[in-house]
Amino acid sequence: MPKDAAATAPVRIEREGKAAFVVIDNPPVNASSLEVRAGLLDAIAALAKDETLDAIVLAGAGNTFIAGADIREFGKPLRDPQLPAVIAAIEQCPKPVVAAIRGAALGGGCELALACDARVGTSDALMGLPEVTLGIIPGAGGTQRLPRITGIATAIELSTAGRRLPAAEAQRLGLLDEVVNAPADLRGAALRRARSLAGRKRRISELPVPEQSAQAIESAAEDAMKSARGRAAIKEAITAVRNAARMPFAAALAEERAIFQRLRESEEAAALRYLFFAERQAARVTDLAEAAPRPIAQVGIVGAGTMGAAIAICFLDAGLPVRLIERDAQSLERGIDRVRVVYRRLSQSGRMTAEEMERRLARLAPGLGLDPLSQADLVIEAVFEDMDLKKGVFRDLDGVLKPGAILASNTSYLDLDALAGATRRPSDCVGLHFFSPANVMRLLEIVRGRATAADVLATALAVAKTIRKLPVVARVGEGFIGNRIYSAYRTQCELMLEEGAYPADVDSALVAFGLAMGPFAVGDLSGLDIAWRTRQRLAAARDPKARHPEALDRLCELGRFGQKTGAGWYRYREGARRGESDPDVHALIEKVSKEKGIARHPFTAEQIQWRALAAMVNEAALLLAEGIAARPSDVDLVLVNGYGFPAHKGGPLFWASRRGRKEVLAALDALPRATGDGFKRGNVERYLEEISQSGH
Ligand code: 3HC
Ligand code: NAI
Repeated sequence: MPKDAAATAPVRIEREGKAAFVVIDNPPVNASSLEVRAGLLDAIAALAKDETLDAIVLAGAGNTFIAGADIREFGKPLRDPQLPAVIAAIEQCPKPVVAAIRGAALGGGCELALACDARVGTSDALMGLPEVTLGIIPGAGGTQRLPRITGIATAIELSTAGRRLPAAEAQRLGLLDEVVNAPADLRGAALRRARSLAGRKRRISELPVPEQSAQAIESAAEDAMKSARGRAAIKEAITAVRNAARMPFAAALAEERAIFQRLRESEEAAALRYLFFAERQAARVTDLAEAAPRPIAQVGIVGAGTMGAAIAICFLDAGLPVRLIERDAQSLERGIDRVRVVYRRLSQSGRMTAEEMERRLARLAPGLGLDPLSQADLVIEAVFEDMDLKKGVFRDLDGVLKPGAILASNTSYLDLDALAGATRRPSDCVGLHFFSPANVMRLLEIVRGRATAADVLATALAVAKTIRKLPVVARVGEGFIGNRIYSAYRTQCELMLEEGAYPADVDSALVAFGLAMGPFAVGDLSGLDIAWRTRQRLAAARDPKARHPEALDRLCELGRFGQKTGAGWYRYREGARRGESDPDVHALIEKVSKEKGIARHPFTAEQIQWRALAAMVNEAALLLAEGIAARPSDVDLVLVNGYGFPAHKGGPLFWASRRGRKEVLAALDALPRATGDGFKRGNVERYLEEISQSGH
C-alpha cells in the first residue's frame, strides 16, 4: 500500500481510493508515546487539508488499537505534543474520523477513540479507563466524554474500578457503535461507517450529560469510595466525572488534566507504575532463553485439603483435567466438597452458569492412591507440612509417574532440595507455592531447586500464565521469599510486645499504614499453632544468644490457637471474626517482660511502623544478597500480592527507596540493638539505589 510522506513513523497513512487509514504501529502494544502523538498530529493535519478524501479511519497495526499512554514517560515531565492536543486535532478535523478498534483501547487509547466521530470494534476489542490502577485519573477527556455516553453513575463505576469492557458490553453501553466478528472485516466496516456520516461530525463533547437522579450518582460514588482504601486517585476520579455535570466542558477538561498531572507526580502513582513493570519483569528468568516448556495436558494434585482443593480449582478454571488424590474416602469427599462449595457459590450468585459449573466439575477426577497419576504431566503435592510425609509422597510419586512428568510441592517453608533428593529425578522437581485462598490469590512463588531443570522452570512459568497467576521465582531457603520476610517482620512485632506495646497497638498502627490486616489479627485467623510448630522445628538451630519472643509459645501452651479456639492474641465472642483486646493476654505479655527484665515503654504508631517495615527491608536485603530473590522488585511483588502490603506504597523496598537514606539506615541500625546478639543486619543500600535508578 502506498505510504504518505506526511506521516512520521511510527504512524503511517495508508490510502485506499478516497479513504485514508491512519495506522499506529508502535509495538508491542501501540502505546501513545511522544513519537506516536507527534505522528498523529502530523497525519491529522495533512488529512484535514486533503480535499480528495471522503473517509478517515484511525486504526492500530497488529492486534492492538492503543494500550494507552506510554507509561514509561510518566516518571518525567511530559513532552509536547501531549495527548489532549492530538484529541483536540481529531475533534477539530473538519472530516469525520472513525476508530477501528481491535484488541485493547485502554486509557489514552480509549480517550482517543472517544474523540472520534464513531467507533467500530472487533469482538475481541477491550475498552476501558484503567488509569486508577496506575494511581492517576484519565488525562485526555475520559472523565468528560464517558459520562456523556453512559451517564455519570456508570462513568464513576467504570473509571474508579478501572474495569476493562469486552466488546459486547462496550457496545451495550454505547462506547462502540458496531461490532464485527472477524478482524478482516474491521477496516471495511469502519470505512462504511465513516462514509455513512457523509461529512458530518459527531463529537461526544457536544452531547449533553444524560439526566440522572442525584441518588444514583451518590450511591455510585459511595460504592467507589468503599474500595478506595487510602488511594487518592479514586476520590479524584469521582470528582472529575462529577464535574462533567457541573462545569462547562472546557473547564472540566482543564480541571481533569490538572488532577492527572498532579497525581502522575505522586508517590502513589510512581509505586503503581513500578509494580506494573515489576510484574512483567518477574516472569523473565535470564538463563532460560533456550528452554521450551514441557506440554501440560493433565494435572494431578495430592492432598485435597484447604490448598489442594483450591489449587484444583485454578486448573479446572483454566480448562485442564485434574486428578485429585486423598489418603482416604472421607478426606476425599471433604476435598471434593471444598471444590463444589466454591463453584456453587459462584453459580448461586449468578457469576457462573449452572452448565459452566458442571463442565468444570466434569474435568475433576477424584481418586485414592497414586496410581491414577501415571499419565499426569504435572503433579502438585499439597499434603500436611511435614518433611517425612512429603518425602514419602515424593518417593512414591517417583515410582508411579511417567518419565518427564514434573513433581511440584506446595510447601510453605520446607527444603525443596531435600524433597527432590527423595526421588531419582531431582531435575524434574520444582516448588509451586500458592497462597491461600489459592483460587483467588494471584501470587505464585515458583521455587527453583538446586537441580531443577531449565525446561521444568520454564514449564512452571508457563503454567502460571495458563492459570493466570503472577509468578515470582525464588531459590530454596526457609520460607522462600514471602514467608521468610513475614516471619522476620512478625518477630519484631512480637518483640515490641515484650518492650511495651499491646497487640491492638501494633495491628492498628500497621492497618493505618495501609496493610490489609495487622500481624496479630492475621495470626489469630490462620492459627497460632502453625507458627508454634515451625518455631519448635527450628528451635535447635536458633542462636541461643538471640532474643526469642516468648508470648506466642505461652499462648499456645494455654491452647489459645486463635479464632478457631475462640482465643489467641485476642479473644473472640461466639461466632465473631473480630477479636477484642484481652486483659489476660496483656497480663501474660507484661509477665514475659518482667521475667526478661525488660522495662516497658509506650510505642507511637510511627515507631511501630518503622520497626515493622525496617524488619521487612532488612530481611529482604539478606535474601537478595543470598540470591533467594533475583531482584528487589520481585520481593515487593511478593509482599504486595501475597501479604496485604498496600500496592499504592509499592512494597517495602520501594517504600524505603522513597524515604530519606539517613532515616532508613537509622531504623535498620536500631534492629540489632533491640534484638541483641545473633541478629543479622542486611545491607540494603544498593537495592534501594537500584529502585531509585529505575526511573519511576
Ligand atoms: N506503556 C508502556 N509499555 C507498555 C504499556 C504502556 N501503556 N502497556 C504494555 N506495555 C508493555 C509491557 O511492559 C510489556 O513490555 P515487555 O514485553 O518489555 O515486558 C509489553 O508492553 C507487553 O505487555 P503485556 O505483557 O502486559 O502484554 P499483554 O498482551 O498481556 O497485555 C495489555 C496487553 C492489555 C495492553 C496490557 O499490557 C495492559 O493492560 N497495559 C496497560 C494499559 C493501561 O493501563 N493503559 C492506561 C495507561 S495510562 C493512560 O493512558 C493515561 C491517559 O489517560 C492519558
Ligand atoms: P490441610 O490440612 O488442609 O490439607 C492437607 C491434606 O492432605 C488433608 O486433606 C490430608 O488428608 C491430605 N493428606 C495427608 N497425607 C496424605 C497422603 N499421604 N496422600 C494424600 N493426601 C494426604 O493443609 P493445607 O493447609 O491445605 O496445606 C497443605 C500444604 O500447603 C502444606 O504444605 C502447607 O504448608 C502448604 N500451604 C498452606 C497454606 C495455607 O494457608 N493453608 C498456604 C500455602 C501453602
